[in-house]
Amino acid sequence: MSSALNKMTVEDFDVKGKKVLVRCDFNVKMENGVITSDKRIVASLPTIKYLIDNGAKVILCSHLGRPKGEVNPEFSMKPVAARLSELLGQEVKMADDVVGESAQSLAADLKEGEVLLLENVRFEPGETKNDPDLSKKFASLAELYVNDAFGSAHRAHSSTTGVADYLPAACGYLIQKEIQFIGGALENPKRPLVAILGGAKVSDKIGVITNLIDKCDTLIVGGGMAYTFMKSLGHQIGNSLLEADKVDLAKEMMEKAEAKGVKFLIPVDNKVGREYDPNTEAMIVNSDEIPDGWMGLDIGPETQKIFADAVKDAGTVIWNGPMGVSEWANFASGTVAVATAIADSNAISIIGGGDSAAAIQKLGFADKMSHISTGGGASLEYLEGKELPGIAALNEKK
Ligand code: 3PG
Repeated sequence: MSSALNKMTVEDFDVKGKKVLVRCDFNVKMENGVITSDKRIVASLPTIKYLIDNGAKVILCSHLGRPKGEVNPEFSMKPVAARLSELLGQEVKMADDVVGESAQSLAADLKEGEVLLLENVRFEPGETKNDPDLSKKFASLAELYVNDAFGSAHRAHSSTTGVADYLPAACGYLIQKEIQFIGGALENPKRPLVAILGGAKVSDKIGVITNLIDKCDTLIVGGGMAYTFMKSLGHQIGNSLLEADKVDLAKEMMEKAEAKGVKFLIPVDNKVGREYDPNTEAMIVNSDEIPDGWMGLDIGPETQKIFADAVKDAGTVIWNGPMGVSEWANFASGTVAVATAIADSNAISIIGGGDSAAAIQKLGFADKMSHISTGGGASLEYLEGKELPGIAALNEKK
């Protein structure tokens, strides 16, 4: 596997007067045709502004939702063009199709510094099949290709991967930052490297735990999946979440960590509730004595201290997944404690996308983190050590 850290970036191109096709991840949250979060559009601005300022003819494309290869106005990129135009303070031309006559003629007429947005790439049936004919059509619109869609970098589609076979291909600033932080932490971390993994299911995180055991100094497991690890130590876990078919694997992972000299921390105490309900009766108990009829819903106060201590002197912290049912105020304090410890530390802090990123933002700690990933699935696959096709396809620096 080649290093992602050596990929060409947009700054390695001479973009003046050139048509540059930029794959963005404008897969924004929408309700009734209205954008409810424009974070992903904002995240793509540095690359777009760089291209405008340097005289490129900018052709943007993205998917939105999953229209399954059919034109469906519900998934049109038009609201994105309108919002982007407001954010850039200039017109964003909107093509009526993806690679058809409208896209071809608008692209051909673009002047330096102008911006065009193509229709939803997933209106084309070849997109998710990585169809070479479609990839060639994308390539025919431009002279250079820039991928800045980190959230879609784990998809081997025409606009994220295939097109790079036919044009010089570099990453934009957003992917560059993701590679620098996540790739940097995996390949050459400032030590000690501490990984904190939470969330409900062991099965979702097996790949990440397996990869990180080989790289971390300390691996912390909290959240619903921790109870399967406790069970593997012979603890009583009451009615807590259990993946019975993963108990042996959990034990093997802890043994592997021990053999490698990696500290593997799981909760020593828990806040347990009677029922899976935000207002259920609750109490704190040690991990080896969760009574029948009770279920673990958050890490306990002693565990919070131990986890915070592990974070305090870390050189790098990677966090993915909540420590408990963090959307319920009564069971959020473990997640808040971990977030606070990371915010207070001097470590390089990398927050995986999805739930943990949302938790950090809700707590107002976003500014205190070195990097919050813009990709949910993509950041997880990156942490699993997989090569992301959208990054692998880019040219290496000379
Ligand atoms: C995301 O929102 O995770 C990305 O935009 C990828 O979307 P997808 O899961 O539909 O490929």
